[in-house]
This record gives sequence, structure tokens and C-alpha cells, in this order.
Amino acid sequence: MKEESGKVSNITNRTILKLLSLVLVLSMALSVLAACNKNDDGVQIDENGVPYIDISFEKGKGPAIARGDSTKLEVKDGELKITNRTDAWNGVNFKGDKFIGNKVQVKASVKSANPTCSLSLQYDLAGTTAYTTIGTGNTSSGYYSQIQGEIEISEQAENVFFYIEASGVDDIYVKEFEVHVVGDYVDPSTLAKLEYANIADYPELKTLYADYFKFGCAIPTTFVSNKNQNYIELVTKEFNAITFENELKPDSILDYETSVSDLSKYNESPAVKFDHLKETLDYCKEHGIVVRGHTLVWYSQTPAWLYHVDYDINKDFVDRDLMLKRMENYIKSVFEWAQTNYPGVFYAWDVVNEAVADGGSILRDCEWKQIIGDDYIEKAFEYARKYAPDGVKLFYNDYNSYQNGKRDTIIEYLKPIAAAGNIDGVGMQGHISTATGVDYFIEAMKMYADLGLVVNVTELDISMPNNNNGEYDQGVYFNKLFKAFIDAKKSGVPLECVTVWGICDNLSWKSADKPLLFADDLSQKTAFKGVVAAVTGEELQKPADYVEIVRDTSTIYEDYEDGKFVGGPRFSATVGVGDSDPFDGSKSLFCTGGVDTYDGYSVDISGFVGKKIHYSFAVRSAAPQTKMTLDIDGEWPNIETITTGSDEWIEVDGYCDVPGGYDTLTLYFETTTTDSFNLDNLLIELAE
Ligand code: XIL
Repeated sequence: MKEESGKVSNITNRTILKLLSLVLVLSMALSVLAACNKNDDGVQIDENGVPYIDISFEKGKGPAIARGDSTKLEVKDGELKITNRTDAWNGVNFKGDKFIGNKVQVKASVKSANPTCSLSLQYDLAGTTAYTTIGTGNTSSGYYSQIQGEIEISEQAENVFFYIEASGVDDIYVKEFEVHVVGDYVDPSTLAKLEYANIADYPELKTLYADYFKFGCAIPTTFVSNKNQNYIELVTKEFNAITFENELKPDSILDYETSVSDLSKYNESPAVKFDHLKETLDYCKEHGIVVRGHTLVWYSQTPAWLYHVDYDINKDFVDRDLMLKRMENYIKSVFEWAQTNYPGVFYAWDVVNEAVADGGSILRDCEWKQIIGDDYIEKAFEYARKYAPDGVKLFYNDYNSYQNGKRDTIIEYLKPIAAAGNIDGVGMQGHISTATGVDYFIEAMKMYADLGLVVNVTELDISMPNNNNGEYDQGVYFNKLFKAFIDAKKSGVPLECVTVWGICDNLSWKSADKPLLFADDLSQKTAFKGVVAAVTGEELQKPADYVEIVRDTSTIYEDYEDGKFVGGPRFSATVGVGDSDPFDGSKSLFCTGGVDTYDGYSVDISGFVGKKIHYSFAVRSAAPQTKMTLDIDGEWPNIETITTGSDEWIEVDGYCDVPGGYDTLTLYFETTTTDSFNLDNLLIELAE
């Protein structure tokens, strides 16, 4: 019994020991698992508790997640290889939720046969998924290139991913991937939830402006389906027109799968899909909100396959005839769908978007132009007119369309289309700043109207100036612009709709510039109050904390004898002080190396804003003319044009009224060619 009991106790002891070690092993395994769990997003923590990512793919793929259903990731020899990509957006994701509310620097070492790869951020904000490029690199050299950039991740962002994608579907290789916080780290779990403002008593723009024009805004489709209804409620209250910010663009409605599924059916008539728009369009119909169709023919946000034989990007471009057929049938399908399902809902269509190049004297190079030729615009309008229902207005839409050069080029291209009766209006986008000349904007409007067309402002957003009074100054500018819109309308300019490009700053495509009417919590910005005041006639109140600008009106004088100058190069010019053939003394300023005529020498004259100045200087150049001009975007008012050419010194003396209303202002010297020029004894002083 003793023995027995001894055995029993022995067995019991061993069992207990075994059990104990099992528990130990299990708990160790569990804690390892838990630790893995904690790190399953691959984020490491430094000695200060700040998260970072730094992976070199030496030990497996780490936190890399395939982006795209078919995409495959494998790791070999310290490289992450991303294969089986069927779309340009396929690639690799890295979770980034630990960085919400922080500014981060992101770096990746990338190689690919694709011409470019990019590093971007994906996040959900108020129920809408947004994508922002952090950096893009040329990757097809056969070597690794480093792509990097800094980005601020909104405090309200959710489901954050950093990702790498490419311009085409070739494999991508990644050797290193890093994310580091810039500045002090904010722990996202400590961030307060956004409390939305109560909008019930807000003045209603659509009602206030009813006598003048429709008031629209751009929205994503998710506003309607979103469980957060604050946004759509504000839209319904304030606006009577909308534009889909992205979802009616060619890349959202052209249907690749269906188009390639039956080429005998779709080769000349690409398939289109609209299901994703239904909810919002039904909403608009129900609430009497009309819709701008944006956009049919555009160089951007159009899938590459549309231009290729068999819709296969590895094959050649199709010929002009087939491209014209695809264009015609695509336009036809869109109008047929709109008319069948939503008659009366669409008030206008942007038939062609942004066809004129920046700088403004030629057409932008794009696939439409390369395949069809310069008349692709005329053709698009011809087809649009053929299929558009009566009463739906057809528009050409562009940004910087108020700038003289671009405006004149647009007018030249639109003249024959207007003469043929195939266009009804010009959309002036209006992605502008508070330095944009209001008078120039209105003048361009009138010139478009002179073609017998109506005008719409289609995508208004105005960057907030980066100064102490930014919020107020932006409000003052909105106020001035809308007063000008009202006056223009009263004087007969056919301005029929003004659309703002979004409702609140954090959801704007230019969120860093805070360019919209409402703050992130939907509270009224001074910008909104400025727009309201423009129509009610109220005065916009200066805030108590307004910082008066102290103008430094001290004289600017530089003879360059000490080698110094207060200005700097404009764009790609080079500026320096040299001793070859000065006007007097032993030195003068030279400005060389420009690639464009507007490269030159810029001098800050912010101190003289709103004042009369006296200026004098000596200049020499081999260029036929040298000019002194004020740097006001869209206007560039010329002060002096000097006949140079001889490369002899010419003395200039004069007076000028520097326009008011600008926080900062520069003037610049340029030549009419890209020849260099020399300046000496530059004087700018108060004239009064
Ligand atoms: C922008 C959208 O706002 C962004 O969300 C998108 O990523 C890029 O396009 N001109 C146009 C608009 O005609 O369609 C553009 O919208 C802004 C410039």
C-alpha cells in the first residue's frame, strides 16, 4: 500500500510536473503568439515609445500584405517580389493605423520594368476611401531607386495603409521599406472623436443665391450611403446641384471585364457601368438636386486599355477610325443611360476636360490627341451634340482658364465648335488662390460669353494663405469674388452655376490648403460667411485677433559692390554678382540659364503693397527686350518693357502704383528670349 501509495504519489508528482511544464510551454507559446499579434502590422517601437517601420525583407515578407486579389508576394535573397499583378494599382500594402494624426516620412527602395512606381497612402475618412501619392520614382533603369516623401495623416483617418503600385502591370521588387514619425509623436488612441457642428441654423446658399445662379458642390457617392449622415445633410441644406468628385469619370464607368469578355460586341463600343451611382442619383432626384456630368473625354483618370487594340495595353494603339468609333459609342452609351434612367437630373456635361496645355498656347499631349489628332475635341462635341438630350448643356471645362494665354487658346479651339452649334458653355474650374485677380476671372468669363456660350464656375476652391490672418483673408477673397459674380450676373454675364469642389477642408483633394467653405467639423469658416455676406450685403467682421500687417517701406537699393542682393532667381534662372562690364563701380548682377522666358530675377516688394513707388535701375542684355513685371498670378502686369538687344547699359527711371490687397508681392525682371541680362544700381523707394 505504502509502495502503492508511493507509486501513486510518484505518478501524481510526475503528472503534476508534466502538466506544469505543459502549462508553461503553452503560456510561452501564447505569449509569443500575443507578441506576434501585437506586431502583426509590423510596426516596431523605439526606446521613446514611438512606432516606426523598417523592413529589409531578409527574414520573410514581414508585414507586407498583397494588394489586389491575384497579386502574389514572395521573398528571396532579401527582395520582396510582387507578381501576378493584373491592374496598375496592384502591389503591396503595409498597415499604418499606428501613425494616424502624425506626420511621417516614408521611404521605399523599388525596382520594376514599369516606367514608374509610386508610394501612396490609402485611408478612410468619413466613410470615403481616399488615396494620396507620397512620392513617385522612375523605376525601369534596372537598378533600385529610392522613392520617398512626407505626409500628414489626418486625425480622423481610419484603415490606413501605405502602398506601392506601378504605372503598369509588370512585377515590382522592393528591397527596403521604412516609415518614421516626423516631429513629436501623437498616440492615435488619445485623439478625441470629432464632434460635428449643429448646422440647423446655417444660412442656405442655394436660397440666398437663387436669383443669380445655382449653387453646387462636389461630393463622393459615399456621402449618401455613409452611416455618418452629417455631410449629406449639409449638402442637402446648402446646395441644389452636385458633381461627382470622381465616380462619373471614365475610369469609374468604363467596364474592362465586360469590354474584353466579348470583343466582337464591345470592340467599337466599350462597355460602361453605372450601378455605383444609383443611390446618389436617386437621392438627387428625390431632393431636387441637379447633377453635372463630369467628365467624358479627359487625358486623366481614363483607363489605359481604352486606347489599345483588343483593349490590351501590351498591344498597339488602335487607329484613328476605331478610336473615333469608341469615343462616339462611349458618349452615346453614357447619354442613353442618363436619359433613360435620370431624365431631367443632368443639367450639364463636361464633354472635354483640360485639353489645353499649362502655359496655354498648345493642346496638351495625350492619347486622344496622339491617336485621333487635334480635332479630337471637335469630334467629341460633335458626338455629344448628336446624342445629348435637348436642354442638357455641353461644356468645355478647364483650370487656369482665366489666365490670358490659356484663355485665348481655349477660345481659339472653341470658336469652330461654337460656330457649329455643338457647345453651350465653358466651365471655369477655379482652383485658385487669394492672389488670383478677380477682375481677370470676370474678364475671361465675359470673353467666353462673347462666343455665345454660358459660363459655370465648376470646381471652386481657394487656397488659404499661409499667414496669421489666413482664415480671414480667405474669407475676404471669397466675399470679393462672389460680389464680382453677382455684379457680373446683374450686368448680363450668363453665369448659371457656381460649384465648390467639396464641402469641408479635410475631405478636399487639396486638404493641406484648407480651400473650402466648412471646417472639418462642418462649422462655418470665414470663407462661408464671406460668401453669405456677398449676397446679403453684410460686412465681414475682422476677428479680434487680426494681426495688422506692418509694411516695411524702407528703400531697396543694391549696387552689388559688396556681392549681395536681396532678390533671388525666378524658376530655373541662375542669379549672381560678377565683374564683367558693370554699369558703374566694379560689379553688377547677372541672371542666366533660364529655360523659359519667364525665368528671371525676383525681388520681394511686399513692403510697398498699396503704395506708389519710385524705381530706377540700369540694365543690359542681348535679348531684344527686357521686362519688369509684377508677379500676380493670371495677370502679370508689366511695368516696364525696355528695348535692350544691343547689350549696352540702358538707364530706366519711373513710378508705379503697387496694387493693394496682397499680403506679399514680388516683381521680377525677365527677357523676351531666354538670353541672360545684367542689372545694376537697382532702386525701389516710396514715392510719396
Ligand atoms: C480631382 C479629385 O478631386 C481627386 O479626388 C482625384 O484624386 C483627382 O481629381 N480638375 C478636375 C477634377 O477636372 O476632376 C479633379 O478632381 C481636380 C482638377
